[in-house]
Amino acid sequence: MTEFSSLTRVIRAGIETDSAQGAVVPPLYNSSNYTFAQFGVPREFDYTRSGNPTRAILGDALAELEGGAGATIVATGMGAVTLSLLALLNPGDVVAYPHDCYGGSWRVFEQLGAKGHYTFVAVDFSDTESAAAQLRELKPNLVWLETPSNPLLRITDVAAISAVGHEVGAVVVADNTFLPLVQRPFELGVDVIVHSVTKYLNGHSDVVQGAVIAKTQSHADLFNWWGNVLGLTASPADSHLVLRGLRTLDVRLQRHLENAEAVVDAIKDHPAIKNLYFPGLKTHPGHEIAAKQQSSFGAMLSFELVGGEDAARRFVEAVDLFSLAESLGGTESLVAHPATMTHASMTPEAQSAAGITAGLLRFSIGIEPAEDLIADITAGLDAAKQAAEVLETVA
Ligand SMILES: Cc1ncc(COP(=O)(O)O)c(C=O)c1O
Repeated sequence: MTEFSSLTRVIRAGIETDSAQGAVVPPLYNSSNYTFAQFGVPREFDYTRSGNPTRAILGDALAELEGGAGATIVATGMGAVTLSLLALLNPGDVVAYPHDCYGGSWRVFEQLGAKGHYTFVAVDFSDTESAAAQLRELKPNLVWLETPSNPLLRITDVAAISAVGHEVGAVVVADNTFLPLVQRPFELGVDVIVHSVTKYLNGHSDVVQGAVIAKTQSHADLFNWWGNVLGLTASPADSHLVLRGLRTLDVRLQRHLENAEAVVDAIKDHPAIKNLYFPGLKTHPGHEIAAKQQSSFGAMLSFELVGGEDAARRFVEAVDLFSLAESLGGTESLVAHPATMTHASMTPEAQSAAGITAGLLRFSIGIEPAEDLIADITAGLDAAKQAAEVLETVA
């Protein structure tokens, strides 16, 4: 029998598996409970918090996508962050995490740390040498990675940091939300992958969901067990929608990635931009590592405007296509102001340490035709430039 590629297996997840009716697409099993076959003899599923046929197809597909042994599908991306921490850590354990990670992850680290359960230490993983030295001294139990980072798209050398993490006995977890298919964390040495499924995996901005994917069966069993114990598992209806989104992940991503390159190329010399953050730029400090460990540079970018917050406001008012909204990875293009939106839960000190300024805007490049995106973003930049000029005249 022909051995098909992993991507084909993901695209065809659950197709032609319905023996009852012969449905091509797997049906949605909303049922919360399942009859026992007979007294004392459960079937494969008994109660949807513990297991559900629709969610199981999605779990297998996401494990296949990342090359892991199994996946636990939970209600939100933050649920996936929480599940991985609670399942892996013991009281007193130490976690090293990126100083510029997603604001919600930062908040859960801070708050669990404040309760005294574990110790969380912020590390700048974009500086491989100093991060490695810090890890050797700290000897954390868990190393948390997120690369490219959010919102400044700093790059971590995943293979190098994972090797040091293992050397000191840590479990290495990577949040791969920004780069499904493009970055293969298990091949780079990571033990556990976390996703906000909400983003590219679902891809249509109509579901909030998370996944914890384990490289080994023992970790996969651990996460499944804790997912049920803590009651974090996702709804079957959401899982059904995500399965639909997942089938087009590869084709959607191709357009997202092409568009991001085209937009960056069109705006990179615009005078309204002070700093443009995109790992595909040769001037980006993480460019070479990104080129080595990613098959593309992703579809997220951010820039800091010369005119600061006023210019950011003018930009947002001037654009029509880029919707002012949190989240990313949907078909529609979005702009976010990290300081007041995605990263508002960080203290001003933490924002400043992470390099988040009032003039910074973050973009999720969608799949609309590139020429429309370029026209719109250029109109926004022209308006931002005018705002900066007015400020200069006043000063
Ligand atoms: C990198 C990253 N990880 C985790 C999350 C949390 O996911 P969710 O919003 O699905 O809970 C997000 C959300 O924006 C994110 O960007």
